[in-house]
Amino acid sequence: MTDLHTHVLHGIDDGSPDIETSVKMLKTMYAQGVRTAVATPHFDYTCVSPEDFISERDTKAGELAKAAEMIGIKLLCGCELRLNSRMLHLDSIKSFCIGNTRNILVEMPFTRSWDQTVYDNLASLIDYYNVKPIIAHVERYHPIIKSNKIAEALIELGAYLQLDASSLFEKPYQRTAKKLLKSNLITVVASDTHNTDKRPPDVLCTAFDEIGRLFGRDMVLELISNADELVN
Ligand SMILES: [Fe+2]
Repeated sequence: MTDLHTHVLHGIDDGSPDIETSVKMLKTMYAQGVRTAVATPHFDYTCVSPEDFISERDTKAGELAKAAEMIGIKLLCGCELRLNSRMLHLDSIKSFCIGNTRNILVEMPFTRSWDQTVYDNLASLIDYYNVKPIIAHVERYHPIIKSNKIAEALIELGAYLQLDASSLFEKPYQRTAKKLLKSNLITVVASDTHNTDKRPPDVLCTAFDEIGRLFGRDMVLELISNADELVN
């Protein structure tokens, strides 16, 4: 199983605070059946330079690599890219994509509504860099909560939609999460784990149990297989 949205790297963002926590997170992932985890720390070009971000991410991933290997988890790097017009000025997008793929995890603005600029930025990202965006925790944005049509518009543009496993159990997002799954708009479910207590990795398995109960085993198998495919 693949978990393609995690904040397992220590001390780089609001995720794991230290390497001990990161190791615990990896062990929990392994116990749930995860064999590939993608480290996706937040990257906002308006806050940090691409060079500094990549350097720090790769250093932290290097520090965790040995433990991950011993636990039995293949650790890949990516990022959770904050969508804005600035990210159209990167020399190369390659280091920000998941592993060696052209798939990139993208965080949309948390504004009440999205104007045309948001869609234009997403379309430019796709065209300019020839990448496939995976929209992070799609159920958490106001425009999506309001209407499925916005989710459909993102897919129309060429994006995949990712759901946070925990949203199936959290009041403000639960309804949207179920609605999107029922409408077959979700490509992939991930933990978006940040730590071992409040946002733990094992919510992924609990979510698959719930999805199986609500929508059937076939949907679970498809979601698991989609995650594997998106990192390869
Ligand atoms: Fe995240």
